[in-house]
Amino acid sequence: MCGIVGYIGSRHASGVLIEGLRRLEYRGYDSAGLATVDSKEIQLVKVAGKIANLSSVVQVNPISGTVGIAHTRWATHGPPSDINAHPHLDCQGTIAVVHNGIIENFDKLRRKIIESGHQLRSETDTEVIAHLLEEQIQNKTFEEALFSVLVQLEGTFGLAMICTNEPRKIFAARRGSPLVLGLGKNRDEFFVASDPAAIISYTQDIMYLDDNEVAVLSDSGVETFSLDRNRTDKKIESIEITVGEMERGGYSHFMLKEMHEQPEVVTNAIRGRLDFTEGLAVLGGLSDVVDQLRDLKRLTIVGCGSACLAGTIGSYMLEEYAGLPVNVQLASEFRYRKPILDPKREAIIVVSQSGETADTLGALREAKQKGVLTIGVVNAVGSSIARETDAGVFVHAGPEIAVASTKAFVAQVTVFALLTMFLGRMRGMSRSVGVKIAEELRVLPHKIDRILRQEEWIRLLARKYAHSPNMVFIGRKYNAAVAFEGALKMKEISYLHAEGFAAGELKHGPMALLDPSLPVVALMTRDSVFEKVRSNVEEVRARRAPVIAVVSEGDEEILSLTDDIMFVPRTLEMLSPILNVIPLQMLAFYTALARGHDPDQPRNLAKSVTVE
Ligand code: G6P
Repeated sequence: MCGIVGYIGSRHASGVLIEGLRRLEYRGYDSAGLATVDSKEIQLVKVAGKIANLSSVVQVNPISGTVGIAHTRWATHGPPSDINAHPHLDCQGTIAVVHNGIIENFDKLRRKIIESGHQLRSETDTEVIAHLLEEQIQNKTFEEALFSVLVQLEGTFGLAMICTNEPRKIFAARRGSPLVLGLGKNRDEFFVASDPAAIISYTQDIMYLDDNEVAVLSDSGVETFSLDRNRTDKKIESIEITVGEMERGGYSHFMLKEMHEQPEVVTNAIRGRLDFTEGLAVLGGLSDVVDQLRDLKRLTIVGCGSACLAGTIGSYMLEEYAGLPVNVQLASEFRYRKPILDPKREAIIVVSQSGETADTLGALREAKQKGVLTIGVVNAVGSSIARETDAGVFVHAGPEIAVASTKAFVAQVTVFALLTMFLGRMRGMSRSVGVKIAEELRVLPHKIDRILRQEEWIRLLARKYAHSPNMVFIGRKYNAAVAFEGALKMKEISYLHAEGFAAGELKHGPMALLDPSLPVVALMTRDSVFEKVRSNVEEVRARRAPVIAVVSEGDEEILSLTDDIMFVPRTLEMLSPILNVIPLQMLAFYTALARGHDPDQPRNLAKSVTVE
């Protein structure tokens, strides 16, 4: 989704800004632009399409200057175009603004500034900010003008701005859309960015801007203020990711690299967290809230997309092994229904890879408002959700760059297994069951490796079915959510229309679709519902739909029932989603390639969805 980079120092700003934008490319965008400033003018270039287009324009018409701001846009108001791309200028071209988020009252503000005689060029909500600043700045400093404008804005924003009146400054403001400030190693250059990834080539030292804070970056440093204009103190923190982690490292695609990292991801998620003698999970991030967790009567899990599906698998684990009733909600629904929560005996688990998804963050804030304990299952350290939850467990998957989640999903499900042990052992789970789960978690990385070795076979399978118009995924119990996840992966990166169903639901509608042109991917590993899924697969076969099955290693008996097979090692039923999802990820990846699409950057999608 939209990305921001700003630079002040002595280097050519355009080079630093374009490199920063490239590092944000993975988040998904449709246009890009940058602007630099000196005391006479703002130089601006912005184009629809890829950063490579922007870079070629800058190569032909170099942009000078050592202070500048840049942006990748993911269209919300107005289609992707050169004009709608950021930065946006005021009428006189003396102020430039880049913006992440959505200004909800922009229509009203737009009418107001048009009435005052301003000429707007774009259809965006952002441009109104440049004109509002122009209105205010007549008899004020930029900083004063900014404070007066911020109180007029409703909605969410991460903003970076430059102005010819104060050409050696960058102004930034945050409400709801993340911004970090970077301090150059020698403290002679400074950065602002929506994601630390944008500036990792230059510095490790960052400060997170909080909501309703304003920052002023100049040659002498960074100052931050609250909306009531008081100075705020910020802690300098270290970026936890490395340049190497942000690169493809020999793989053709980030998604392929991330799928191959999954054995290590599980190892990292469980590292130092298992007591194999007592069958306990040791989760330091929950130590302050242990008493509240012991008294819990019910849990709610919220998230979006794959994060919500990981939570669904977690809910089956927690109910079966920890005896806790769990309610799973899409974050976008949770925040607008009227959830009934008991602050004394309930808690909410908020699942998010990025820690910045707008709906998930909204759901977290709604839950906090209601006074319930909030627990994060988050990947990005330092993200808004990680910082705003009362307690939490990091999944330690490392940066996930491909838009479609793979390793973060697997890490989230692994953390739910740890949470199940943690909460289960407080409420009746025996030591031996705890030990069994711990032992099985320990060997999962090797089992994932065995699945990854079938890559070539899965690539051939993907080619065989790649041109089917539709595909259905089915599974039951723990693997119903895996079926949904398999279908989600397939549609999001290959654009092959795919739907996931709980296998028992086939008869209640979807079966009408079955015919020889509709491949059905069935999750039928040996578990407590195996016989039930087998019956469902018989029903599919009777309608002559091809069956591609994910089955337990050595289960030759299934061969006669299916057209094609992908094997996975045996494991505990509750952990089977961690293995079963991997062939489905591979199938989606190679289907996308066979259909000629880039799996890393699917059309219309963004890695981190920071608008509602
Ligand atoms: C986007 C991504 C998905 C992800 C979802 C939730 O849609 O493409 O892969 O599952 O957002 O993101 P989060 O960062 O909150 O896990």
